[in-house]
Amino acid sequence: MSPIRGYVFDAYGTLFDVHSVVEAGREITSDPAALSAIWRQKQLEYTWLRALMGTYADFWTVTEAALRYAVRRLGLTATDVQLRRLMDAYLSLACFPEVTSALQRLAGRPRAVLSNGAPAMLAAAVAASGLAPHLDQVISVDAVKTYKPSPLVYALGPTRLAIPAGELLFVSSNAWDVAGAKAFGYRVAWCNRTNAPEEELGLRADLVVSALDQLPR
Ligand code: 2OP
Repeated sequence: MSPIRGYVFDAYGTLFDVHSVVEAGREITSDPAALSAIWRQKQLEYTWLRALMGTYADFWTVTEAALRYAVRRLGLTATDVQLRRLMDAYLSLACFPEVTSALQRLAGRPRAVLSNGAPAMLAAAVAASGLAPHLDQVISVDAVKTYKPSPLVYALGPTRLAIPAGELLFVSSNAWDVAGAKAFGYRVAWCNRTNAPEEELGLRADLVVSALDQLPR
């Protein structure tokens, strides 16, 4: 097997904990975890639907629409100011505890982010978590105006890093993203943070870890 020459990381759920918005949710519900779970699930569904329909709107727009849906679905009410506060939480999501040291350990080969996030959202989250010095590139799907798991998105990694997909390790905590990256041709590590079952898509990660500090150098 050829050696790994670079790393491509998913952002939300892999580097950044999307459920760190739970605190902000307390203001409008006594069950902020339920709000966060529906918000995240709907956010992903809207990306898949928009990719299939060919109706791209950036991830900030999709995330806000998903939040409005989740609020209605749970029968909650929220003012525009409260919705804004919840959305703003997305700009300063916490990164998982091991992320900084794990990225540091992988220095010497290019480390990139490839994410559904809109460029401004990613820039804010990277700055807020202090990850900028440990990332060589932050790549947004906005360049191709569609979403994962479109091959157009996964192609951005090898193109921008000038390294073939088969020599890049794509790392994601999202099992469906693992399948998408594998289908495209990356070597793939699944960071299975929640002990989730594998997707039944006939595509398996090359490696499964439970946190990023277990990635091979
Ligand atoms: C990301 O692209 C899928 O959350 C996901 O960052």
